Amino acid sequence: MSDPARPRILTGDTPTGRLHLGHYVGSIENRLAMQETHECFFIIANTHALTTRAEDPAGVTADVLEITKDYLAADIDPARSTIFIQSEVPAIAELTWYFAMLLGYGRLMRNPTVKDEIIVKNLGDNYSFGFLMYPVGQVADILAFRPQWVPVGEDQVPHIEMCRELARKFNVAYCGVDPKTPDEEHEKLGVFPVPAAKVGRIARLPGIDGKNKMSKSLGNAIYLSDDSKTLRKKCNQIFTGRMSATDPGETDPAKNPLWAFHDAFNHDKAEVADMKARYAEGKIGDGDCKKRLAEVLDTMLEPMRQRRAAFDADPKRVLTVLREGTSRANGVAEETLMRAKKAMKFDFFSRSLRLE
Ligand code: TRP
Repeated sequence: MSDPARPRILTGDTPTGRLHLGHYVGSIENRLAMQETHECFFIIANTHALTTRAEDPAGVTADVLEITKDYLAADIDPARSTIFIQSEVPAIAELTWYFAMLLGYGRLMRNPTVKDEIIVKNLGDNYSFGFLMYPVGQVADILAFRPQWVPVGEDQVPHIEMCRELARKFNVAYCGVDPKTPDEEHEKLGVFPVPAAKVGRIARLPGIDGKNKMSKSLGNAIYLSDDSKTLRKKCNQIFTGRMSATDPGETDPAKNPLWAFHDAFNHDKAEVADMKARYAEGKIGDGDCKKRLAEVLDTMLEPMRQRRAAFDADPKRVLTVLREGTSRANGVAEETLMRAKKAMKFDFFSRSLRLE
């Protein structure tokens, strides 16, 4: 039974490389705060990574370890929070089937994130059947843990909306829950709660090139694991749109990563305001503001680099974290699956699952 004093959260990442500053302000920061007060489950969605990398499962596995080290480096505490591997929790795959049966194909295709990804990744009509399964799989990732909250970036909100619909639908279809039941009462009456998205402090961080989103595939990211030298170099490359000393540059902070990053990471608000004013008057240049930003980021990243180095030196410890986390995750997910199958009258036998 989950502890009512520690509401549960579930979130995670698709392992497509290391974590960057966009992940940090979009979600990791929320997780660090919530692990103090919530029971946290963090899924590393390696099965989902196959939607774009079906030919490279070994590369996905390498990234699973990188992401785990990023979590640990960011100070996610494996003693308090559960970090686990999606492909080793079979209840998720089973629940995916049941939820897929409750989801209309048309509804899935109207999911704006699915539509966007087809366009942005240039998939045309060449996407796999598995690509369309992943949002349903994500619903199962979440509901297998019956969480109250799902901390995510803004682009994931449509998936959480689908998740909420399917939780209600399951409870209505198989648990006799009245369709008019308020969301807060679903968990009491059915198998699943209706979990809510929690979007990070900064929903979307631009890339160093000023493109609207920091992302690995756009090559415009600052990684949590970048060393000081790389960090300084990337800060120097930041796009500001400034053509001369008196040119204010790109004035929309959402398109000017220099100010977007200062706003996001430099907690000395008075300093940032003063810097912006002097910059606008042509009294200081790009170089000074970039240098200051690099210092601020370096101070933030240095403890992460040190923790990461300790895990890099001890790969067994990383695997132990994952094995223990995945074991705990299986305990919860198996229990959820059993309850779901019971509600569906599909509970022929009981079973137990143990990782070696
Ligand atoms: N799709 C999410 C992403 O790419 C990762 C993810 C998989 C996830 N399963 C999840 C996030 C469950 C929240 C909850 O960022």
